[in-house]
Amino acid sequence: MRCNVKSSSLLAFLLGTSLVAGLLPVVGFGPKDQDPFQSPELDMGNSKSSKSEPPTAQSGGPPIVSDALSVQRDVSIFAEFVRGSAPILKRLEDAGLNTTVLAPLNSAVKALPRKPWEDPDADGNAVHGAFAGLDGEKRAAENLERFVKAHMIPISPFSENEKIETLGGREIWWSTENGVTKIYPDGIVVKEVKNSVPNGQIWTLEGVINYSTN
Ligand SMILES: *[C@@H]1O[C@H](CO)[C@@H](O)[C@H](O)[C@H]1NC(C)=O
Ligand SMILES: *[C@@H]1O[C@H](CO)[C@@H](O)[C@H](O)[C@H]1NC(C)=O
Repeated sequence: MRCNVKSSSLLAFLLGTSLVAGLLPVVGFGPKDQDPFQSPELDMGNSKSSKSEPPTAQSGGPPIVSDALSVQRDVSIFAEFVRGSAPILKRLEDAGLNTTVLAPLNSAVKALPRKPWEDPDADGNAVHGAFAGLDGEKRAAENLERFVKAHMIPISPFSENEKIETLGGREIWWSTENGVTKIYPDGIVVKEVKNSVPNGQIWTLEGVINYSTN
């Protein structure tokens, strides 16, 4: 079983970005002395703006959803994951395909017990070096893509109580009760709906959608 060259170059690309440099100290994999500042962006999402608003469109954003995603600082980690996944990025760049992007806030990604590129099952992750070599890189790239797909809705607008399969194949829906919009069945709180662009919308989430497969 040889590794798929495309995935590993994807991951190599990903590993070359600032993402991993930024994450490793948090994860505890990397040199801790490179993180003198304690994640200043963690507080950026806390303005109590539009939590109680049901998703509504705003105008004036960039022209497509991939651009809209890349300018959102509070979901920049997720945006890096998306940039590492060529098929997803291609979709978001396609003006003819609408997508609702459920983007977990940086704080939500950092709070995960396991990092999105690690295997979702508990076995085999605790060991440093489990992702060494091409097979490891391929697995990490696949895991990241699964995480990203679990947060992509292949339609926009996405209506209340409409049940729809994510690109990851899981059925989800949303509703607003007492002013709080949540994604179900997980009950993940939607913080706000960002820019609406001609081919979709970005919603920011205070947690992550369950991306486990078993
Ligand atoms: C795509 O989104 C745009 C903007 O919200 C909307 O006008 C259009 O009807 C949507 N297309 C489809 C096929 O849902
Ligand atoms: C996530 O989904 C898997 C499979 O559907 C399930 O076994 C697991 O309990 C879920 N985890 C959470 C936190 O809901």
